[in-house]
Amino acid sequence: MSIKILSINDLSDGDLGRLFFRAQQLSEKGKPIKRKGIVVTAFFEPSTRTKLSFTIAASKIGLKVLNFDEDYSSLKKNESMADTLRTLASLGIDLLVLRTNETLDKALLASLPFSIINGGDGENEHPTQALLDCFTLMQVWASDSFVGRKILIAGDLAHSRVARSNLMLMRRLGAELAVLEPSCFKKALEIDQSVLRFQSFDQLPDNFDAVMMLRIQKERLKEDLLINDQEYFLQYGLSKKRLKALGEQCLILHPGPMNIGIEIEDNVAYGTRSLIQQQVKNGVFMRGALIEHCLKGMEHGNYRLFGLK
Ligand code: NCD
Repeated sequence: MSIKILSINDLSDGDLGRLFFRAQQLSEKGKPIKRKGIVVTAFFEPSTRTKLSFTIAASKIGLKVLNFDEDYSSLKKNESMADTLRTLASLGIDLLVLRTNETLDKALLASLPFSIINGGDGENEHPTQALLDCFTLMQVWASDSFVGRKILIAGDLAHSRVARSNLMLMRRLGAELAVLEPSCFKKALEIDQSVLRFQSFDQLPDNFDAVMMLRIQKERLKEDLLINDQEYFLQYGLSKKRLKALGEQCLILHPGPMNIGIEIEDNVAYGTRSLIQQQVKNGVFMRGALIEHCLKGMEHGNYRLFGLK
């Protein structure tokens, strides 16, 4: 059976519990379950950490990882994406990790015989990033429940698949959510009423448990930003002073890549409350757990991460 993880909502609560538990085991030097199989990574947008962490995680499981290179593929000869995917099916792959600049076509992907993990589709979702982000917070908080935790996501939310998937997952885990959306972005993210919305740091309440900063995704902007990088940092960047105002305990997340001095100050990004490098490390463990899940290797029962639920 093939498994498709295109959205956070493709995972049941039981799946989430098992994935967090397994990622924790892998982070404690747990041995991956060895498998034979072929994984193809097809990234139609640039990537460092997502693509490499999938590649490393799959290699540790013993899978053969092949990179699909768009520029040297028959897509350049006007072959359609649908025919390309049918070709991968006939070639006999087991898992496809796909990153696209548009929202994935669920109906098309559902018909394919191999498993698929969404590595980020346009402005829509980035489920594996949200899983590793929440897993990183769980490790520090030693809890798989976010009930009573206040989390802020700040920056270019409108174009952020990371924000969309995180808001979905963090809400499911019980967090109280707030967003800071700079008014320089003309488009606003569609989110439900339970998320508090702010436009500047001055309006924010204090006592946040975590803040996630987002890069301005200039490659997705349809219009010119009427603000330069320096001014953006002054108005919306996470500085030491602003971090202090968010609260003593506030942890810092960023999915990367960071633009230092624009959305975040260097001494904040590399400071003691930053979990940013831990997020990258956890990317390998969480993606290892996800690959095992897709290839039906997760034989660990119905555990929850810290057994607190
Ligand atoms: C993000 C992405 O590609 O959506 N990065 C990532 O996968 N770690 C965020 C971004 O590009 O800003």
